[in-house]
Amino acid sequence: MATLWGGRFTKETDQLVQEFNASIFFDFRLYRQDIEGSMAHARMLAKQGIITEDERDSILEGLRLIRQDIESGVLTASQEYEDIHSFVEANLIKRIGEAGKKLHTGRSRNDQVALDMRLYIREVLKETSTAVTELLATLLAIAKENTDAYMPGFTHLQKAQPVTLAHHVLAYFEMFKRDHGRLSDNLKRMNYCPLGAGALAGTTYPLDREYTAGLLSFQAPTENSMDSVSDRDYLIEYLADASILMMHLSRFCEELILWNSNEYGFIELDDSYSTGSSIMPQKKNPDIAELIRGKCGRVYGALQSLLVTMKGLPLAYNKDMQEDKEVAFDAIDTVSGCLRLFNGMLKTVVFHKPVMEESAKKGFTNATDAADYLVNKGMAFRDAHEVIGRVVLYCLEKKISIDEVPLEELKKICPLFSEDIYEAISLSTCVEKRLTNGAPGKAAILEEIKNGQEFLAEIESQA
Ligand code: ARG
Repeated sequence: MATLWGGRFTKETDQLVQEFNASIFFDFRLYRQDIEGSMAHARMLAKQGIITEDERDSILEGLRLIRQDIESGVLTASQEYEDIHSFVEANLIKRIGEAGKKLHTGRSRNDQVALDMRLYIREVLKETSTAVTELLATLLAIAKENTDAYMPGFTHLQKAQPVTLAHHVLAYFEMFKRDHGRLSDNLKRMNYCPLGAGALAGTTYPLDREYTAGLLSFQAPTENSMDSVSDRDYLIEYLADASILMMHLSRFCEELILWNSNEYGFIELDDSYSTGSSIMPQKKNPDIAELIRGKCGRVYGALQSLLVTMKGLPLAYNKDMQEDKEVAFDAIDTVSGCLRLFNGMLKTVVFHKPVMEESAKKGFTNATDAADYLVNKGMAFRDAHEVIGRVVLYCLEKKISIDEVPLEELKKICPLFSEDIYEAISLSTCVEKRLTNGAPGKAAILEEIKNGQEFLAEIESQA
């Protein structure tokens, strides 16, 4: 193995130690960020007169060719190298000779890996935000088409009060809107450049950290060199953001799975997003929704793993921190795949609106409105609640709904009932009279959709 520390050692590293210590097979995916960071560092070294312009140009050209060779598959990860940083440096020296040995002046792998991870996560944050934006657009499109699609709203998975499909879907819009906000917050907080922090204590070379930060589109250099090399907060924050986002996807998947069941029959998942059974010919299973729900655990696991890795680390860099990569990369790939698949699945769902509406009419979803009716006739709410409870009991015995009870029977239970009760507890009245901000009534929902559209237009214009 080509090590970076020959001088001090009289013995070769043990083979098992080399393998145990290496990260090349998983940090190779940072090659673009590593090369980009090295290019900025070389430019800065030349600007500061630490290397010559010729040396800079030869370094830049060498790095460009290495990137090209990695992308075309000529250069691949090999266990000859410990990590992506040594891989790039060794290949640079092979290619351009002496000048290549100067690239690492005033730099340590500690600030290098801190930079590479930040550059990588910054891209991930942007990509995740874009995927969430696309999902928000899908949700809004479904909401717009379904402001009149009545369905039962549930609490405790028991029918509670009627809502609309638009209302239900817009609840998720709010959740994913907050996810988008969390990713943006993280991006603002993490966009500072650790390059120049050196191993932990900066360097004696006259580095221009502002300059490299600018070249790499960071807001500014990070403030404290010890923190710079030992901070992985932005990664933990990403995993926390991702965990909440996955929890939202998982809850929606759970609902789609229920709605897709024979018992509910509210939706049908598209064939292209379903799978069959090897034994039961009638089956069409919601595997994708189940897998997204299942994959949530991996992302939570990554968050836990990194929190535990970091909790006991003294300042500054410790090799434990290399353990951030595999779990984070797995979580990143998981989130990206789940968002893409979920969006595709949702776009192709067929909603069985008559079934939803029929279901909303059953289960006494208008019982609250029936009580409100009596309140409007002058009864105290607590008494009205009691009366309607008795009406429900009557209905349960007769196996009918409240609006199917003849007026004479209703009057026997309470003389305040008159002919207008039926209109007052119709499904459309129950929904359309709910007009407070955020409620399912049409006027309120149209307002919510308008606000959603404005939010979407704003984040789309910032992307
Ligand atoms: N592979 C290492 C990591 O991911 C790079 C930094 C190594 N630094 C060191 N001092 N050994 O953390």
